[in-house]
Formats: sequence, C-alpha cells, structure tokens
Amino acid sequence: MYPFNISFSKTALVLATTAAASMAYASAQAAEVEVLHWWTSGGEARAANVLKELMEAEGYGWEDFAVAGGGGETAMTVLKSRAMSGNPPSAAQIKGPEIQEWGELGLLGELDEVAEAEGWDALLPTTVADVMRHNGSYVAVPVNVHRVNWLWANPEVLAAAGVEMPTTLDELFVAGEAIREAGYIPLAHGGQAWQDATVFESVLLASGGTEFYQRALVELDEEALGSAQMIEALETFKRLRELMDDDMSGRDWNIATSMVINGDAGMQLMGDWAKGEFTAAELTAGEEYLCAAAPGTQDAFTFNIDSLAMFRVEGVEREAQQALARLVLEPTFQEAFNLAKGSIPARPDLDMSEFDTCAQQSLEDFQRTAEEGGLVPSMAHGMAVRADVQGAIFDVVTNYFNSRDMPAEEAARRMVNAAQAAL
Ligand code: GAL
Repeated sequence: MYPFNISFSKTALVLATTAAASMAYASAQAAEVEVLHWWTSGGEARAANVLKELMEAEGYGWEDFAVAGGGGETAMTVLKSRAMSGNPPSAAQIKGPEIQEWGELGLLGELDEVAEAEGWDALLPTTVADVMRHNGSYVAVPVNVHRVNWLWANPEVLAAAGVEMPTTLDELFVAGEAIREAGYIPLAHGGQAWQDATVFESVLLASGGTEFYQRALVELDEEALGSAQMIEALETFKRLRELMDDDMSGRDWNIATSMVINGDAGMQLMGDWAKGEFTAAELTAGEEYLCAAAPGTQDAFTFNIDSLAMFRVEGVEREAQQALARLVLEPTFQEAFNLAKGSIPARPDLDMSEFDTCAQQSLEDFQRTAEEGGLVPSMAHGMAVRADVQGAIFDVVTNYFNSRDMPAEEAARRMVNAAQAAL
C-alpha cells in the first residue's frame, strides 16, 4: 500500500528473489535467527536479552543485529540497505503502517501456521491483530504495548522544590519554575527530532484534546493542521524550552532519563521505555520515582506497539523464525520482556500481579480509554501515519522548536504542506 518509492520497490523485489536461493543454502547450516532492533539502552538491552535466552534455551542461535538510536530511525535506514542488497535479517522491529509498506514489497514471510496453532486470533485484540496482518496473513508478531504520554519525576527533586506532580500544562510550567529556583533542571530532554515529536504530540493532546489529535496527527486533516488550535499547541510546546537545559542538543533519551534518576533534573516527558531505565536502576515505582499521564492527557492513551516483522526466509532459518514468533506471544516472554521494557503485554489475558503500579495504571488507562474513545496511535512512534509523512512532520516540529524566529503560524502552514506529501 505504501511503497517507499518506485525504484526502491523494484530493486528490492529483484534482489529479494535472487537472494532467496542463496539464503536457502546459508540457512541449511544453522537454525539461527538474525534479529534487527534498536533496543540498546540499559532497560531495552535487558528486555531484548529475554528473547535471546528463550531462543537459546530451545536450541536456536541468536544473531543480534542491534542498531543504536532511540526511535529507530537509524535502524530503519540500515534495514533498508540490507534489504536492498538482498540480505534482510530473519526478523526486524517494524511497526504500525510500515509493516504494510514492507508487505507490499513482497519481502515479508507469513506466520499463519504458528498463528493458527497458537490461537492468535482469539488471543489478540482485533485492532492489534489487524496491524500484524498483510493481505490477510500474519507477517508480524506484537511484543508489547507502550504508552507514550507519560510524565516521569524524581520525588526528592519535587519535594525540594515544594511541588506536586503537575496534572495540567499550567501546573507543569509553575512546577518547572519552582524546580529551577530550587537549583535543578526542570525538564530533562534530548534534542533529537523524534524526542521533540514525542513531547510535541503530548502537548498537542493536552491543549487540543483527543479529537483534535486524531484529526490533525492521524487523519492529517488540513483544516486541523493549519488551525488556531494547532498554532496554540505549537506555541505551548515551544515554551517548554524554558524548562529545558542548554546542553540538550543531540542528547539520547536514556541520558535524559538518567538525569531524573540522578536527581539533576526533576521531570521527563517520555514513553514508558523510560520506566525500563528506572527498573534497571532498581528503583521502585511510586516511591523512588513517579509516573503520571502527561499533564492534561489523563483521558488519553497514545499507544505504541512494538512488533517483530518476519522476512521471507527458507529452511532451518524459517524454522527458527517460526519458533521466535511463537515464543514472543507466550506468557513467559510477555511477562519477562515487558517487566524489563516498561511496557505492558500485547495479550490482555495475562496475570499482571508482578507488574509495578505504573504498568497497572497503564493497563487500566488502556482499557478505559479504549472504551471512552481516548485511545489514539502515536504519530511520533510510527503508529499513525506513513514513514514519509512522519518524517516530514518531524522536520517541521524540530525546525520550529530550534528556530529563533519561525512564527508558530509558519510552522502550522508547513504542517499542512507535510500532510500533502501523503496525497
Ligand atoms: C520506540 C520503541 C520503543 C523504544 C523507544 C526508544 O519507538 O517503540 O521500543 O525503543 O523507541 O528507543
């Protein structure tokens, strides 16, 4: 449905066909999977290791193809060049609408046998299962559900500043000022396009509400993108710079999280992979660190479902790949992986008693917002729009955020242009 571009599609198809024969030969030697992902921070690596260990316990080899870079932009670039040279990995972390883009290229293999044997249709919520299928066949398996609209905080820093966890954007600015006066950085942030977009979508959600978020960032409604509401969201987003430090440019998200952990900063707006860092540092949720819905977004849940898509492979490599797909949805993996990753399981039928209070809240809010209409896909994390449109929106958001003189009106106009790339 969404080819990257014509020349890439054609080249990829030709190369993939020639590669199939050589892969069959290579895979005759070892039942091994090569898995591309970008889970390289402390918490993420612990989580990825769960899968490696489960595969190895079943006698399969694991070749780790980790490409550092939060949000996965670099990983996707590397994946495209591997696919172009006719040598894709067995599986890769590919999410949301992008699964369809790869499916259209004819590069993904199906998992229908495993899905049927394991009863995936009954196990997975329909909305999740639909994303994992291409032309009716399962081509990917979901590992988790991340929530993006979270605020994380260090309770000692809040106490030193005499403030509580902010629940509205106005409270966030007031608390931030008090934290600054107490001698700390109010909001830890990393100046990278995907992190800017992560914060922006939470601010837009708070200032415009779920319906506006849906119209602007999911449906790409031009009226919403160019509206006064959008201009207001952009202005509020830019004001957040007042709460950030001067060294944020290029900083990785997990370094920003460590600033909250160490007590250099008070808060961070980030998805719950940040919880993986607090967990890896052996801190207790609700006591040594705090979580709450991003200010003003209590009635919404921006979801980000990580999934592993399977490339078309042959022989024993396919056998190992099918085992990988089966393991991913089994309770053992779902529990251990998500405890380390900060997310909640992709299947809703599991016992959550081992999970911390933030994860329990995530599950409750997921179910509540699904019923009440506040469950929306994260634009910043590839759930809402095609990769090329997402890239165009990232450019606008980050250029505006870093510009000294671009008015919000101009940024809103550029948003409309970015959406036109989708036509
Ligand atoms: C997200 C991904 C998460 C986490 C985060 C930071 O896009 O879904 O699993 O890795 O990026 O890298």
